[in-house]
Amino acid sequence: MVSLFPLTLTEGLVRRRGQVIMGPVSLTVEGRGLTVLMGPNGAGKSTLLKALHGIERLSAGRLRHGCPSDQSHAAQAFVFQTPVVLRRSVAANLAYPLKLHGVGRAERARLIEDWSARIRLSDRLDQPAARLSGGERQKLATARALIRSPQLLFLDEPTANLDGRSTREIEDLLRAARDGGTRIVMATHDFAQARRLADDAWFMMNGRIVETGPSPQFFDTPARSETRAFLRGDILE
Ligand SMILES: Nc1ncnc2c1ncn2[C@@H]1O[C@H](COP(=O)(O)OP(=O)(O)OP(=O)(O)O)[C@@H](O)[C@H]1O
Ligand SMILES: [Mg+2]
Repeated sequence: MVSLFPLTLTEGLVRRRGQVIMGPVSLTVEGRGLTVLMGPNGAGKSTLLKALHGIERLSAGRLRHGCPSDQSHAAQAFVFQTPVVLRRSVAANLAYPLKLHGVGRAERARLIEDWSARIRLSDRLDQPAARLSGGERQKLATARALIRSPQLLFLDEPTANLDGRSTREIEDLLRAARDGGTRIVMATHDFAQARRLADDAWFMMNGRIVETGPSPQFFDTPARSETRAFLRGDILE
């Protein structure tokens, strides 16, 4: 399969109702690892993730991939904070992306068995996904995003409303995916989670990237005073 990387956002800017809500931001995503995106509410994290995924219209700047754009979308996945589940069974939710990309019946069955076990929903495959709890839905959405082994996965606060156990299960899925070669970019407000998972971190404020750096250096000795204040829990204006 052709590589999506490098994925480059150049001077990306998003304006809505006359206001700049993100940018200009220039970033390159490539290689391996898990990047954590942090920053106060309204900083523009969700907007940036969507811009990088190619689903947020840019008012200025450019998004480029290492492969033709018709192939770039199939190579990536996005998990939203409020997971979107299809109004069908758990199994049908897992099958959906596989069918969409022409995975054969036997391989589909194998992958559904494997992934439903990993999210501990094997015995609920025939139940409507809409009946799952919030945490179970979030696990299902994460498994559905990972089931095709995307080159790149975005997640927007994937564990915001989950208990410790579900959070740990999702983190395990993400680590395994990262170790298997999926590049991950994830927004989170959970500092402990960020430290547990990050290979590197981006800090965003007022629509701009203020600082980027490898972990644990980013968390222990950030270069910018805004980053230090944010990580200390100070209110940033
Ligand atoms: N369609 C829109 N029209 C106008 N303003 C918008 C629109 N979408 C987002 N915004 C504004 O853009 C800013 C950035 O929003 P965004 O959702 O990217 O922030 P965030 O960092 O993800 O915040 P949070 O931590 O609360 O999820 C916010 O002030 C938001 O109100
Ligand atoms: Mg957000």
